[in-house]
Amino acid sequence: MKKNEFPDQKLEQLTDHTTDNASQALTTNQGLKINNNQDSLKAGERGPSLLEDFILREKITHFDHERIPERIVHARGSGAHGTFKLNKSLAKYTKAKFLNEVGKETPVFVRFSTVAGSAGSTDLARDVRGFAIKFYTEEGNYDLVGNNIPVFVIQDAIKFPDFIHAVKPEPDNQIPQAASAHDTFWDFVSLMPESMHMIMWAMSDRAIPRSYRMMEGFGVHTFKFINEKGKMHFVKFHFKPKLGVHSVAWDEATKISGKDSDFHRRDLWEAIENGAFPEWDFGVQIIPEEDEHKFDFDLLDPTKLVPEEEVPVELVGTLTLNRNPDNFFAETEQIAFHPGHLVPGIDFTNDPLLQGRLFSYTDTQLSRLGSPNFHEIPINRSINTVHNNQRDGHMRQQIVKGKVSYEPNSIGGGCPFQAMLKDGGFASQEERVDGRKIRARSQSFVDHYSQAKLFYNSQSEPEKTHLQNALIFELSKVTIPAIRERVVGQLNFINKELAALVAKKVGVDVTKLKQPNGSIPADADPK
Ligand code: HEM
Repeated sequence: MKKNEFPDQKLEQLTDHTTDNASQALTTNQGLKINNNQDSLKAGERGPSLLEDFILREKITHFDHERIPERIVHARGSGAHGTFKLNKSLAKYTKAKFLNEVGKETPVFVRFSTVAGSAGSTDLARDVRGFAIKFYTEEGNYDLVGNNIPVFVIQDAIKFPDFIHAVKPEPDNQIPQAASAHDTFWDFVSLMPESMHMIMWAMSDRAIPRSYRMMEGFGVHTFKFINEKGKMHFVKFHFKPKLGVHSVAWDEATKISGKDSDFHRRDLWEAIENGAFPEWDFGVQIIPEEDEHKFDFDLLDPTKLVPEEEVPVELVGTLTLNRNPDNFFAETEQIAFHPGHLVPGIDFTNDPLLQGRLFSYTDTQLSRLGSPNFHEIPINRSINTVHNNQRDGHMRQQIVKGKVSYEPNSIGGGCPFQAMLKDGGFASQEERVDGRKIRARSQSFVDHYSQAKLFYNSQSEPEKTHLQNALIFELSKVTIPAIRERVVGQLNFINKELAALVAKKVGVDVTKLKQPNGSIPADADPK
């Protein structure tokens, strides 16, 4: 591997926890050297094993417990270390220190993933790809937990468990492993007009990248930047691969899957081992607070993107991946991202999908990683030291000195204090919020087809053909005719030719197509 050219405080921190077993004697977990790793302790040469064989017991017990649950979603992934370098200061918009000083480098760990498949599934599935970045900044960890498609499938977090249940293998027979080729997936999306924009992306070539190195990353939601004076701007995050965006066609994907289901994982690993470090331009779309309502969609709606013609992407930094993990489990598997891991100068919005995500990640990680102290796992540690009064719990590592672990206190005793804003203390961006407590969706969220149409129309002829073929292939796997009809009904709102073409191939008669009884929700807006 080429030498890492960048200073990396995270690497120094991880080194303290890294062991090299080469030329070392085997030991037990207590450090006792083991003299025979081939034979258990027995009562006589052909007799039963002895309970007192603590070496056998320790080895088998640890083995029995070496699996943890895979992620509920995004279970299949690959990660790498790298660096983020700022090329243009964003101090005008945000006080986040890692985005202020030109030339500043921040260590990062990035994990790419598919969404629906299990940890052992193929890399080449037609699916969205996760693009999650942990920035180890001097002000604490900042996580940008994004995807390679700029929009999401639903508008409200309360629908996420239903959507994932529809995407994952069906509960009775765990078939199919593929993300989208089945009744439950198409049933759900056909009943969910807001999903149609993302469905266009997911059926396009974007959903089968040639390489993780050749796909874009998006923060998806609108976030907030806050500068030193307290002024707020909305922001959308982008990563653009220096190698360009490339995909494989469906028949290539199926062949590659058959021959090497680790294709993306291997590609990323080998590129980094060979010094061909993957790079992305980091860009932002900045929207002044005053312009919040000037768009014909709602900035809080995660099924919409902000067109780059309306708000250009300003390129301000470079993300480089330059070091493979030493240990997949300790690093790639145990890393825990969370959209609520913020630093001063960045905040989230009231996007109802993002709001639900803020609850979900820590909650799931408590069961996935098994302890409230998972922030102490080396890959999750911030590079600045953690000081607080949280204590105890399973697997506690930090040894905190002192008599007092509450605040305020009059004893002192080594207790940490609240940081002033000027010293980097975090305060949520103040915002006026008043209204009736209601379970409802804003009227500004109801146009589900305009951007789906724009996306379809933006495709070149070969790309359109791929998208049509994807729909035909996927829908031909659907066994229930009413679901196929409903999907064609949705496509009809996007593009009539597309709907007619698909209908013909999947046995739906468009001329007789009535909107099925109540199956297209009333908020569908066939503009
Ligand atoms: C992973 C929940 C929407 C991107 C996860 C995980 C959960 C989850 C439970 C597993 C985390 C872990 O075990 O560490 C949700 C919920 C959502 C939502 C409830 C909506 C309400 C999104 C959206 C994006 C996204 C909109 C993209 C912008 C990711 C990524 C991962 C992930 C990239 C994998 C992180 C990794 O590599 O460890 N999500 N998610 N999710 N989610 Fe979401």
